[in-house]
Amino acid sequence: MLAIIGGTGLTEMARLDVIKRHSAETPLGAASAGVVQGTLEGHDILFLARHGHPHKLPPHRVNYRANLWALKQAGATRIVGINAVGGIDPSLEPGALVVPDQLIDYTTGREATYFDGRYKPLKHIDFSWPYSEALRAELLVAGQRVNEAIDEGGVYGCTQGPRLETAAEIACMARDGCRLVGMTGMPEAVLARELEIPYACLALVVNPAAGVVEREISMAEIEAALSDGIERVKRVIGAMFG
Ligand code: HPA
Repeated sequence: MLAIIGGTGLTEMARLDVIKRHSAETPLGAASAGVVQGTLEGHDILFLARHGHPHKLPPHRVNYRANLWALKQAGATRIVGINAVGGIDPSLEPGALVVPDQLIDYTTGREATYFDGRYKPLKHIDFSWPYSEALRAELLVAGQRVNEAIDEGGVYGCTQGPRLETAAEIACMARDGCRLVGMTGMPEAVLARELEIPYACLALVVNPAAGVVEREISMAEIEAALSDGIERVKRVIGAMFG
C-alpha cells in the first residue's frame, strides 16, 4: 500500500475517503499523528502528517522512528515523502517540483536508526542509493500524466533547522553538490531503508536558498509558493494510480 508523508503545507489529503484512523502509538513512542487510511482514485493509501495535524512539531523534534514504524504497522509497502525545500541550484525557482536521486545528511542529534544496539542489534545497512529507483520513476511518470514538469535528479541536503541557513552554508552545500536544501529528508529516508520499504522524495521548491538571490527569505514568500505548489503535488500523487 502506498503511503504519503505530508510535509509543511500538506497536513491532510482532502480527496481522501477515510476508511480507518490508526493509532499514533508505536514501540518507539508516538508518531506525529495517527496514520490515516483511505482511498484515493479508488486505491488504498496511507497518509501521515509529518509535523502533526494541525502542524506543530519542528523538523528536529519529529519522532521519525515512530513515524516510519507507524506506517509499516499500518501496512505501508512504499512511501513517498513530500518535502518543501529551498532551491540551491539557481535554475530551481519557487514552484519547481523535483525528485532527487541522492542526499547528504547535515543534521545532528536526531534518532536516526533502529539498529543502534539498543532497540535492535547493531547493523550497517547499504545506503549508496538512498531512494527507490522504481518509485522515483513512478513519480516522474505520474508528473507526465498530469502535465506537471518534474525536475529529475540532484542531491538533497538535509540541515538541522529550524533556522534557515547562512549564505556561506548554502555556498558550501553547493560546492558539495547539493541542488536542494530541506530539514526533514533525513533520517526519514534511512529509516525507510532499514525497514526495507521503498522510499522516494517529491520536493517542492518554496524559496531560493540563502544567498542564492540578494535578499532575505520571508515566510510570506514560502507560504505563497506552498499554497500554489501543494495543489500540484496532490495532482501528481493522484496520478500515481494511472
Ligand atoms: N532551507 C531549509 N529548509 C527549507 C528551506 C530552506 O531554504 N525552504 C524550505 N525548507
